[in-house]
Amino acid sequence: MENLNYHNPALIIESANLQPGSTIWRSPSNIAIVKYWGKHGVQMPRNPSISFTLEGAFTMTRVDYKPKETPSNEVELELYFQEERNEAFEARVKKYFASLTEIFPFIKQMSFKIQTANSFPHSAGIASSASAMSALALCLCSIEDELFKSFETDEAFDQKASYVARLGSGSACRSIFPTLSVWGKTSHVEGSSDLYGIGFAEQIHDNFKNFHDDILIVSAEEKSVSSTAGHALMEGNPFAEPRYNQARKNLGTVVEAIKAGDLETFGKICEEEALSLHAMMMNSNYLLMRPNSLKIMELVREYRRETNHPIYFTLDAGPNVHLLYPENIITDVRVFVDEQLAPLCVENYYIADWVGEGPVQQ
Ligand code: DP6
Repeated sequence: MENLNYHNPALIIESANLQPGSTIWRSPSNIAIVKYWGKHGVQMPRNPSISFTLEGAFTMTRVDYKPKETPSNEVELELYFQEERNEAFEARVKKYFASLTEIFPFIKQMSFKIQTANSFPHSAGIASSASAMSALALCLCSIEDELFKSFETDEAFDQKASYVARLGSGSACRSIFPTLSVWGKTSHVEGSSDLYGIGFAEQIHDNFKNFHDDILIVSAEEKSVSSTAGHALMEGNPFAEPRYNQARKNLGTVVEAIKAGDLETFGKICEEEALSLHAMMMNSNYLLMRPNSLKIMELVREYRRETNHPIYFTLDAGPNVHLLYPENIITDVRVFVDEQLAPLCVENYYIADWVGEGPVQQ
C-alpha cells in the first residue's frame, strides 16, 4: 500500500508575515457509474469507482483567512451557506479542518470565514457533499500554494486536493478532475490509488464526449439515510464481499467500454450498478426509491427498446434518477423527458446537466 499522508510540520508561517487573504473555487458534483459503497479505515474505499464530472451542479466556495487574534489550538471559523450562518454545516467543517491540522498546520494560526453556495436548489435533495468538500479542499491547497509556493506542478496540486477532498467525503476526491475520474486501486487503471482520485479523460472514446446527465428530481425530501450511515451498513451486510467483487469486475468492464466507445456495455453496467447499490440498502431494510423512481426506470427501458437510443439510468443513494445519454440524441430525448418523465418529478423539476471540465478557481 502506498505510504502517503501529506503530514508536513513545515507549513507554518511566521506570525509577523501572515497577511489576510482569500480564495474562491467553483467545484462540481459528480455521478458515479461504478459506485463507491462501503469503506474502511480512514476514508478508504472497499472497491474502485468511476464517475463523470458534472458541469451545472456545482458549489462555489470563498474562504477568507486572517491571523487569529489570540493563539489557540482550536479551529476558528464561521460558515455561511447561501448567505446565512449555518451551524450544522459549520460544525462539520470545523471537525473536517481539525482533522487536517497535520496536513495544513497553518489552519491553527488562522481565523476563517467561509461563504458557500450551490448552483442547485438545496431542496432538490441532490448530494452536495462531493462539490462542497472538493471546493473546500481546493481552497486549502490554494492557500498553501499562496503562502508556501509548495506545489511544483498542477498534477501535484490536484493530487493533494483530491487526497484532502477524500478525507471530507469519499466521492469528493473524484470531483477534482475533468470529464471522468477513477478512485480506488485497480489493476484496470494505471496510477489508480485508494488515497486519491485520478483523471481518466484522455482515454475516453468520442462516443462518451459531451455526455448528458438529466437529474430527475423525484423527491426533494432530506435523505432518510446519510451516505456515511449507508457505508457503515455494508459492514454487517452478508452480501458485502460479493458486492465488492462485482464492483471490481464492473470497473474493468466499464473502463474497457469507455475506451472502445461501447455504449451498450457501458449502459448495462451503469444500470446494474444502480440497482445493486439499492439492493444492498434493501438488504439492510432501507427503501430509498420512490414509486416514481421505478416508473421512470421502466419508461427509460421501454423508450430504449422502442427507439434503440442509448439512454441509461443510474441512481445515487436516494430516489432521484440520473439519465445518461450522448449528445447526438438530445433532440429526441428532450421531448421524451419533457412529455413523459418530467410529470413524474416534483413540480416537473429536473436539472439538465452534462459532463464538465472540472473545478475552476475564480
Ligand atoms: C452512492 O462520498 O457521500 O454516491 O465518504 O461517507 O462522505 P462519504 O460518502 P459519499 O458516498 C457516495 C456514495 C454514492 C456512490 C458514489 O458516488 O460513488
